[in-house]
Amino acid sequence: MNRTAVLAVACTAAIAGGSGVALAWSRWFFDPIDELAIVNSPAEPVLLAIHVLAVPVLVFVLGVIAASHAVPRLRKRRGERSRLGLVLIGLLAPLILSGPATQVVEDESARRLIGYVHGGTGILWLLALTVHACSPRLSRWIRSRRDRSLPAPDRPPADGPTTPCPSAPPT
Ligand code: HEM
Ligand code: HEM
Repeated sequence: MNRTAVLAVACTAAIAGGSGVALAWSRWFFDPIDELAIVNSPAEPVLLAIHVLAVPVLVFVLGVIAASHAVPRLRKRRGERSRLGLVLIGLLAPLILSGPATQVVEDESARRLIGYVHGGTGILWLLALTVHACSPRLSRWIRSRRDRSLPAPDRPPADGPTTPCPSAPPT
């Protein structure tokens, strides 16, 4: 995955996801400002506007990433894979469908439930994305720390294998 793609996923997920998490905070943990209010905090309309404007961009970026990164990876590597990529793909449908569903369901308790499903799926998806994107770097870092702590003869060479190349002339 190139830098532009990583940056596009990181920025759109941060804006759409950050506003989503803040919305969850406002909707689930605060009471309405007064008995006539339809919002729970003065920031809610702004958060909602950011969320609703940012999510189409996130969904577009995810479509591009699915075609250029996820599908080729799934085709290539059979057997040993981290599975978090699969979790990211699997959560997309409930996440993307439940958002707009909160706007069309009229029954208040059903709307509330769908809101919890949407927010919960969104938070899980953000956590999975963070671990998925960081884990290759993390395992590289752990491997390099472990190799550094080995005694010198056991340490793998920094610049490739030590076995002589079969085509090399005898010394
Ligand atoms: C990335 C993680 C996401 C999180 C954490 C998140 C979180 C939330 C939360 C907490 C709400 C308020 C739910 C309620 O009323 O109880 C919401 C509303 C909504 N979300 Fe998301 N969301 C995320 C991604 C998405 C995506 C990918 C879409 C794409 C369709 C989306 C579309 C919507 C829509 C349309 C609403 C309804 C706004 C309204 O009430 O008018 N969200 N989101
Ligand atoms: C900043 C964003 C991302 C980075 C840096 C990243 C990086 C990676 C890497 C390094 C692998 C190979 C894992 C391995 O060798 O064990 C991988 C696999 C995969 N990624 Fe991503 N990825 C990102 C975002 C995404 C997103 C947004 C999706 C899906 C919506 C996704 C879906 C997958 C899938 C399906 C696989 C193959 C299965 C697996 O190894 O889990 N990735 N990704």
